[in-house]
Amino acid sequence: MERLQKVLAHAGVASRRKCEELILAGRVSVDGETVTELGAKVDPSRQRIAVDGVPIELEQPVVFVLNKPVAYLSTVSDPLGRRTVMQLLPPIRERVYPVGRLDYDTSGLLLFTNDGELTQQLLHPSREIEKVYRVSVRGIVDRETRRALMEGVELEDGVTAPAKVEVLRQADSEDGVAVVHLAIHEGRNRQVRRMFERLGLPVVRLKRIAFGPVSLGHLKTGEWRPLTQEEWVALYQAAGMTPPPYRRPTPRREPSKGSARPSARGRRERPE
Ligand code: URA
Repeated sequence: MERLQKVLAHAGVASRRKCEELILAGRVSVDGETVTELGAKVDPSRQRIAVDGVPIELEQPVVFVLNKPVAYLSTVSDPLGRRTVMQLLPPIRERVYPVGRLDYDTSGLLLFTNDGELTQQLLHPSREIEKVYRVSVRGIVDRETRRALMEGVELEDGVTAPAKVEVLRQADSEDGVAVVHLAIHEGRNRQVRRMFERLGLPVVRLKRIAFGPVSLGHLKTGEWRPLTQEEWVALYQAAGMTPPPYRRPTPRREPSKGSARPSARGRRERPE
């Protein structure tokens, strides 16, 4: 069950605030009954929702991957006005949001979707979905360090689950930086940085290169791509869900005018 104004906004009717105005103005009905209450919860997959008597078109799920640059927040908006990943998104019709977060100073693979259930499942600890990071640290990643990472590191919020570690490059006398691939399935706040810091190795660069079955591959920093059909199926399966029909995001053909008239907007933007 979701809030009515959120469902309307996701269907592309108008912004969340404008949708609230539509509800208050008595223009929205659920199963034929006018609803003027802002907190009303609805099940969009089962109930008929209409604005001015015109049924809304539910957004179909889309998923894509962005190679996030550093110095972008992974949030939808920032009260302090800092740059967010939303500024890097392609012009598409679906209202997507990031699946989890990467730190401001972390780069790499960030998934976006409009599928709330998929997001919830992918981030749920019980799913144990593996995330792989390329980590550059200052210092030597010796056998003790590798063993600690593989067995679990004691952090303030508990011991970490066993990680997989592969040392790609050992620190040399030139820059003293070692590079490792670390695979973890937990998603605690700043977890990778804290794990290495706890072992006396400050992280100088952190990039996520895989999330479950989806890898960054050769995607350039700041660029995005839709999932392949194979990735789509594998990602939904990793989330324990039946994959819906494969779709790519829908390009936006014209700038949104913020119209509060879903019927007109729906007709104008429906593909031929
Ligand atoms: N671990 C971190 O420390 N930072 C991230 O952004 C992701 C994982």
